[in-house]
Amino acid sequence: MPYAPEHDEVPNPLRKGLRADPAPEPCAIVVFGASGDLAHRKLLPALYNLAAAARLPASFGLVGVSKSPFSHEQFQKDMREAVGRFSRTKPIDEEVWKDFAEGMRYCAGPFDDAATFQRLKAQLEELDKMRGTRGNRLFYFATPPSTFPVLLKQLKAAKLINKPLETQSTRIVIEKPFGRDLPSARALNQLVLDVADEKQIFRIDHYLGKETVQNLLVFRFGNSIFEPIWNRQFVDHVEITAGEELGIEARGRYYEEAGIMRDMIQNHVLQLVCLTAMEPPVAFDADAVRDEKIKVLRAIQTMDTPEQVARNVVIGQYTEGSIAGADVPGYQQEKDVAQGSRTPTFVALKFNINSWRWGGVPFYLRAGKRMPKRATEIAVFFKPLPHSLFGSGATQPNVLVIRVQPQEGIALRFNAKVPGERYRPRTVSMDFRYGSTFGATSPEAYERLLLDAMRGDQTLFTRKDEVEAAWRIVGNILKVTENPESPAPFAYEAGTWGPPQADQLLEQDGRNWRRL
Ligand code: BG6
Repeated sequence: MPYAPEHDEVPNPLRKGLRADPAPEPCAIVVFGASGDLAHRKLLPALYNLAAAARLPASFGLVGVSKSPFSHEQFQKDMREAVGRFSRTKPIDEEVWKDFAEGMRYCAGPFDDAATFQRLKAQLEELDKMRGTRGNRLFYFATPPSTFPVLLKQLKAAKLINKPLETQSTRIVIEKPFGRDLPSARALNQLVLDVADEKQIFRIDHYLGKETVQNLLVFRFGNSIFEPIWNRQFVDHVEITAGEELGIEARGRYYEEAGIMRDMIQNHVLQLVCLTAMEPPVAFDADAVRDEKIKVLRAIQTMDTPEQVARNVVIGQYTEGSIAGADVPGYQQEKDVAQGSRTPTFVALKFNINSWRWGGVPFYLRAGKRMPKRATEIAVFFKPLPHSLFGSGATQPNVLVIRVQPQEGIALRFNAKVPGERYRPRTVSMDFRYGSTFGATSPEAYERLLLDAMRGDQTLFTRKDEVEAAWRIVGNILKVTENPESPAPFAYEAGTWGPPQADQLLEQDGRNWRRL
């Protein structure tokens, strides 16, 4: 018999825990690219964990769409394996999985065939009847960017997109990279907004789903002692590092197109800059928070000439080396990478934010593959003492370090007296660690973001003007570095913190990268 529950009235057998926030409205998620890496590693494990924590809507369904010819059962089996392998929590609760898998369908077919979308529509209508998903849809584009236009066109033609004011909600989550430069991002925004309203669009940047990244907002705006010193009067400079041990894995084709600037800087690292540098928003809502982030992006001084780029940007590419005792190949030996490729896998750059708060405070960013270890952090260096009572060079400037990952936490470095008769200072650290303070492991970024998208909360998603403002900064640099006349990236050995020129970028200002 058809089952169309009112979600608040129907007891969900999976709802075991207490929930702080209301569950989202009933909803069916459609994952385009269901046979791909993202669906296997991140999306399905995140959805399963939401089910296990009783955070999914009481009425929930999922349709996977891709070209591979699976049956519903094969798809469910494949997803069960992926969840078993990649889930944050283990072992898998079979009772939870069974209920979750009952609402799972598969739709095989090419994206450029209208018949695929008619079949999808029929399956969604069936889920509405069988699972009570009430016509609410979340379309997730976990596909290469080249498919976005055709997906949008087909969804519109199949009348699968409702206008926002209609009773049934339609939302679209779009994975990065959103465009590959400013003109293409603008064109994609245009295309998206031809079929849907900005309120329906969720441009995802998974860094914003990380607990430590969200905590930046609480740290800065939930405490009174940091804000008065968070400015040019007290801060000397800021260093942001996003280093990974990993190389490009099996993603040579994608990476050759993207490089580190599109893969990490345009999105994740600039988001860290925004949250570090933004003014307090007038309210904690999506538009107020994003308005302030955009002001930061607009205040970043762009580099328009080859000379400015040469002075402030260092790009690198890894050669073979060794990481944690294991030999790893160089970038040009990776699968699907062209011999003589000029794609950067590392960048270090310096810029100023032209605002009253930050004028004259350099921000140094670096991101790279095949670094000695995985470390993402924001380090705020305070000004040195105007005069030292304990001898020159006896004290080190205070540094506040926000460790995004791993060993998530926040540390404040200050000087203390070494016990003994003399006044001999040494740096020590006050250290807050998530793991020991809060115990439980944090949810994966995708869990939080999927839940927010189902709820229609856009705070942690990128707005149209924000994505364009980020491309303005990165696009200008790319215009110079991707010019065939420009110098090729500097080589650095895998397992090091980039080429020596990246150190010189700070040394010329009398500074150093924090040792990690
Ligand atoms: C992705 C990039 O967006 O972020 C990858 O495409 C990168 O190249 C990854 O490895 C890093 O994410 P995380 O969460 O592991 O820091």
